[in-house]
Amino acid sequence: MLSFLPLLGVALMTTVSVTGASSASAQIKPAGPAVLAELPMTVYQKRRARLLKELGGCATVIKSQSTDDKLDQDFFYLTGIEEAGVSLVLAPRARTVVEQLDFPIRNPKAEIWTGYRELINTKARKKYLVDEVRETPRPGLGRTLRAGLRRGKCYAHLRFPGSPQDVPAQKLGNLLKGYGARSVQQWSTLETMRVIKDADEITRMRKAIAITFKGHEAAVRALTPGVIERQVSVAIREGFYRHGATGLAFPSIVGSGPNGAVLHWFKNSREVVAGDMAVIDIGAEYGHYAADITRTYPISGTFSAEQKKIYEIVFRVQNEIIAMVKPGISLNQLHRATRARIEAAGYELPHYFGHFVGLDVHDVGDPDAPLEAGMVITVEPGIYLKGKFGVRIEDMVLVTARGGELLSKDLPRSPDELVAWMEKIRIPQ
Ligand code: GLY
Ligand code: MN
Ligand code: MN
Repeated sequence: MLSFLPLLGVALMTTVSVTGASSASAQIKPAGPAVLAELPMTVYQKRRARLLKELGGCATVIKSQSTDDKLDQDFFYLTGIEEAGVSLVLAPRARTVVEQLDFPIRNPKAEIWTGYRELINTKARKKYLVDEVRETPRPGLGRTLRAGLRRGKCYAHLRFPGSPQDVPAQKLGNLLKGYGARSVQQWSTLETMRVIKDADEITRMRKAIAITFKGHEAAVRALTPGVIERQVSVAIREGFYRHGATGLAFPSIVGSGPNGAVLHWFKNSREVVAGDMAVIDIGAEYGHYAADITRTYPISGTFSAEQKKIYEIVFRVQNEIIAMVKPGISLNQLHRATRARIEAAGYELPHYFGHFVGLDVHDVGDPDAPLEAGMVITVEPGIYLKGKFGVRIEDMVLVTARGGELLSKDLPRSPDELVAWMEKIRIPQ
């Protein structure tokens, strides 16, 4: 359970007209009741049921391209399986087996290195809630796909052109020819499903955010003159895992002094100096869901006049953009609005203003499409003074029917609240 850290009662300097964003008595809340990292299998079953409808009768195969470093999120989204080389066959028009999982043949010699795999039997079928589970040398290809093609006369490509193939192209071509089936491109179907987060996903993202707050607390405690940036990143990671993270959503960025003006400063090699600002751009992962939250801290606990001036511009712009989040507006429109405001203040915005977040920290979604309730985005304006310092403030916003809910509202943002919070949590406990 996360501990409760009440804040000093400092009033917000700016009002934020975002649903649920009033935080006059902002405080770090506990992550809430224990949330299981793993989603129940019924969640994946429901997603496949929806996809089966979207397929309009076409059969399809999705093969897990997961690696040790990177999860195949599409495959995981539909099955909850992290393993590489497993294929999901969907054959909506087939008579008996409509959903099938094909696992590659077990390799006991490899398993001693990588972990032991469950046995593929009736129990596995019950566990994964599909019609059939097999162990086969040719995952994806077989009777179910053939039945689906024979009866549906159609194959749907669900992946972006150019991504690793789910079925060998020549084999698929031969099958399509043999059954007189056509192929259709449906590569935006999964993106359209994944970009709208369901309640289970949002619960996990809230938990990832609560854990990320703990990483920020650890960063503030560690950020003292003489510390090396990477030591701060170790403290952040320790804070994450101590509070239940299941991973890091991305390598932590600890950019002190001039490194704060380097957008993706992952080296974290500099010694922090008194009077520095530090950009801390970090995100915990929980149950494969990402958080991504940036704060810029004056490490001495007070801003210089120049630091405060820049911070206040970024804070104002961020508030204005967060207040614009609602169904109907697109990421590109929000980006243009962010850039216009930073430029009107006399600075440049060298990066995009934000992105979708979900299974991936930079998640799927169309930046031109109107936002819809259930999408989760970041709003992360910044101003970067080369050779001096940078200021970025990044928060996560859930699009709701009426506007936006600032999911990360409990981590202080206004200059006064930030400084008061830093002072509070630096008091030895
Ligand atoms: N942490 C990477 C980003 O903010 O997009
Ligand atoms: Mn981001
Ligand atoms: Mn970030």
